[in-house]
Amino acid sequence: MIRTATADDIEALLALQASWPGLPKWSRTHWVQAIGGSRERIVVLEEEGRLAGFGAVRLVPPEAEVTLVAVDSKRLRRGSARKLLGRLHELAKEGGCELSGLEVSAANAPAIALYTSSGYRVVGRRPKYYNDGSDALLMSLRLA
Ligand SMILES: CC(C)(COP(=O)(O)OP(=O)(O)OC[C@H]1O[C@@H](n2cnc3c(N)ncnc32)[C@H](O)[C@@H]1OP(=O)(O)O)[C@@H](O)C(=O)NCCC(=O)NCCS
Repeated sequence: MIRTATADDIEALLALQASWPGLPKWSRTHWVQAIGGSRERIVVLEEEGRLAGFGAVRLVPPEAEVTLVAVDSKRLRRGSARKLLGRLHELAKEGGCELSGLEVSAANAPAIALYTSSGYRVVGRRPKYYNDGSDALLMSLRLA
């Protein structure tokens, strides 16, 4: 089940985020503000009462920015991220967005494969953007 995140999800969101070393770390305060914010949409995937994934998008019409997508490492390759991303796109369209953009490390092959297979195209590159020296790829999708 994919649903909107609430403040009760924050502990589980922090734990899942911490389980992926390469993921940007949002503080508790950032999560609280994002969940309560008018421009952010945060969704969670719940399976058997547990948080199995989450996604976040920031709406600045006509553009949306997908800021985070992550799935429990024990539940990969079951289509969870694609479902979360699809829901973020729906919410972005409902919020008046026509384009979705994101930034991803050129070293993150699973995420690039997810986004490419969901229709995103590389539109820019920031050399050596991340602390590990990898480039940032800027990707964009026109929302149907
Ligand atoms: C990237 C990530 C979100 C993918 O989650 P997932 O639930 O396993 O992805 P899905 O099962 O929905 O996969 C959808 C498509 O993405 C691609 N994909 C996902 N993981 C892949 C991998 N390890 N290798 C190659 N392709 C992959 C495939 O095209 C896949 O479709 P297919 O299974 O039909 O071939 C997950 O690996 C993750 O949480 N990574 C850590 C966090 C992160 O880096 N997030 C992205 C930046 S914010």
